[in-house]
Formats: sequence, C-alpha cells, structure tokens
Amino acid sequence: MAISLRSFAKINLGLAIGTRRPDGFHDLRTIYQTVALHDVVKVDAARGVGIEIRCKDSRVPDDDSNTCWRVAERVLRTLKQRAKIVIAIEKKLPVQGGIGGGSSNAVATMIGIEKALKTQLAPHDRLRIASEVGSDLPLFLVGGTVLGCGRGEEVWPMPDLPAWDIVIATPNIGVSTPDAFRRWDELVQDNGKLTDTGLSDRISTFSRSAFEWLASVPTTGVPTKEGGDRAETLLLDLVRAGIENDFERVVFPEYPELRDVKRVFEREGASFASLSGSGSTVFGLFATKAAAEKTAEKLVAEGIPAQATTLLSREQYWEQMG
Ligand code: C5P
Repeated sequence: MAISLRSFAKINLGLAIGTRRPDGFHDLRTIYQTVALHDVVKVDAARGVGIEIRCKDSRVPDDDSNTCWRVAERVLRTLKQRAKIVIAIEKKLPVQGGIGGGSSNAVATMIGIEKALKTQLAPHDRLRIASEVGSDLPLFLVGGTVLGCGRGEEVWPMPDLPAWDIVIATPNIGVSTPDAFRRWDELVQDNGKLTDTGLSDRISTFSRSAFEWLASVPTTGVPTKEGGDRAETLLLDLVRAGIENDFERVVFPEYPELRDVKRVFEREGASFASLSGSGSTVFGLFATKAAAEKTAEKLVAEGIPAQATTLLSREQYWEQMG
C-alpha cells in the first residue's frame, strides 16, 4: 500500500550570505520556518528494482536529477535493500520558488520509504543523505522554526514562533539559486565594504540578532497567535532586529516585479515582508487573518498567484505530515 505524506513548504526569515568557501558553497545563516502549504508525496515499495517518479507537472524531472530520486537511491543503498520504489508527486507548491518544494518532497520520500519498508534509518544517516542531496533538505528533518548554519545544512531546532498569518506570493518567475549566488559574488567583488572580514562580521551580526530575537520566544507550551500582546511584540521585534534576506540585493534589481510585490505587502500593512530564499516567493506576515486574506485576494486580482496560510510549528509539522 502506498504511503501518502504531506510535504510542507518553508520560508526564510532572513538570510545572511557570508564568504564563498573553498568547496564553492557560501557560508550562510538563516532562520527557516515551515508553513502550512504542501504538496502530497506518495511512496510505494514493491518487489523488483528501480526508481520511478510520477508527476503531472512537466517541470518536475522524472530522472536521476530529481532530488526524490537521489534520496531514494541513497536510502536503499544505506539500508542495503532491494525494492522497486514508485514516487508520485502531486505538485501544488511552485517549482524553483524559494520555498523548498523539491527539498521537502525529497525528505518526504525518505520518510515514505522508511514507512513502506517498515524500517528506519539511523538519525545520522538521515541527516547525511539529506545534506548530500541539498543544503535545504535537512531543515525538513526538523520542521517548525529552525536555525540554518554552514551552507544551510547545519540545522538547529529553535523555539517555535506563533502561528502568524502569512501570505505567500509566487510570481511566475523561476530564479536559479546558483545564478543568484554568482550575482552575489559579483556584488561582493564590486563593493569594497564586502571584504571577507566584512562578510564574517555581517554573519556574526545576523547570528546575534537572530539569537536575541528568538531568545524572547516562550520555550514552553504551543505558542498561539492568540497569545495576544506577546505574539504582536515578537512580530515587531523581528522588524527591529533588522533581519533581512541578502538575496534581495541581487534578485530585486534583476526582477523588479518581485520588489513591487514586497511593496504591496508593506502597503497592505504587513508587519514584515521579504523574499524567501533566492525567490521568486515573496511573503508577508500579518497581524490578522482578515488582513492576510484581503492581501492575497488583491494580489490574485493583479494576476500574481498568492495564498494566505499560517506558520506551522514543529509539532504540527510532524502531526500533519501523515
Ligand atoms: O545545496 P544545493 O543543491 O541547494 O545548492 C545549489 C547550488 O547553490 C550549489 O551548487 C551552489 O552553487 C549554490 N549554493 C551556494 N551556497 C550555499 C548553498 C547553495 O553557493 N550555501
């Protein structure tokens, strides 16, 4: 019987890019946050051998370039099992959208194969496979509010943020992450202030701001947005902390329509608005569900795909996965 799992999206609440490392990756710091939008991934394990990907969306590759395929292959090898794995993806999240759709599908595949084969990988093997396949996969082994370090693959669970209302807008633009990093390198080259020391300082500043901000999140109980003043203050503190996404500096000049979406959020009263990852998703956090829904409707009327949803805590993430 196929195992059916919800594969949730993430956003980045700020992302600081540091130096380019000898392995070609960039040092970074970010706060990942899972949100309630999802794809559905169905995994079946039968007798035989091979990996098959089924997806109606032609933009999703069905060969070994698909992150699900790459994870499945490594999971079988690590478990020393032979099976015919069929992965069916119902795509609702945008492709190349900066909200980790492909990465989340791949982690759902890992968990789906474990369930289908009635076995479990050791935690260190789960993490190794996830980080081998991509920098954005390990966060989905944690869920909720997660601090990302290294090239993004070093993940640390943080106290969960309240279930704030959020609007996710995904203009139909595919932003290539490697290209965005290349443009960041060009910016660094042309900007005298962004020396290696300058970049390390900015990374430290981000870590400090993130720590100070997240240190005020209650560590017990499930935080609710109805937590009232506290939730509202936290949202204001996020803005005061000066947490930003560095990709905006290279992606907005290239795609001004994404900056325009951020401006719509600000005009409509979002407490915080930002690009997610390298885009093209732009999101806005709102104090009320009504304001989020009104803004999503407005964007849709302007021809920009947008949805109102909420942040998803770690507990909800694992409970609702399936
Ligand atoms: O790890 P992932 O497959 O998501 O990375 C895609 C590409 O993005 C990498 O090949 C690299 O060019 C770039 N990247 C980077 N620094 C990071 C993460 C990704 O330069 N921290």
